[in-house]
Amino acid sequence: MFVAPSILSADFSKLGEEIKSVEDAGADWIHIDVMDGNFVPNITIGACVVKSIRKITKLPFDVHLMIEKPENHYMEFIKAGADYITIHVESTKNLYRTIKEIKKYCKVGIALNPASPLCLIENIIDEIDLLLIMTVEPGFGGQKFIESMLNKVKKAKEMIGSRRIYLSVDGGVNDKNAPLLKKAGADILVAGSFIFGSRDYKEAIKKLKSSL
Ligand code: DX5
Ligand code: ZN
Repeated sequence: MFVAPSILSADFSKLGEEIKSVEDAGADWIHIDVMDGNFVPNITIGACVVKSIRKITKLPFDVHLMIEKPENHYMEFIKAGADYITIHVESTKNLYRTIKEIKKYCKVGIALNPASPLCLIENIIDEIDLLLIMTVEPGFGGQKFIESMLNKVKKAKEMIGSRRIYLSVDGGVNDKNAPLLKKAGADILVAGSFIFGSRDYKEAIKKLKSSL
């Protein structure tokens, strides 16, 4: 079970220090939310930021692309040092080809918005390394966890079966729902505001892990 702090809720005026702090506090991966103001209403960070924080840590970078036509941009993030590139099923008309392309260079993840059914990944499940279930509508940190997504996580775990695919959960994760998510089969908990909004990052990560 891994905890991946989402830097979206970090203090960007000292992003390097924030990443070091969560690393020291026990983070397993760093989750990087890329938004384009089109696929989602918000605009966040680009590949140049990923490149500069790549020098700070050796932790795996889990780059979550919430952008239209990720096929036009994934390479910038691979060059910047992404270990996983996660794209949304809803964001491209050429999902299969884009997955195949990304796989030539790094691990590939597929994300599903809350309203998108699991059957959308049925035909490409054997191609992916990670499945990301959104437990909030993507676009902003600090939103409330959508309880009905617990069942979707459970079904996703069943669908994955014995395949070597990480099941990741993103949005509104806290110490209350972490044990339920673990029980439902999640391997990776992405958490932004719960970690960066706490006074003690180590305590927050410990809470997410120990409640498991
Ligand atoms: C939402 C992002 C999430 C978000 C998580 O669009 O993909 O990664 O930053 O933040 P919290 O944990 O605050 O919901
Ligand atoms: Zn995310």
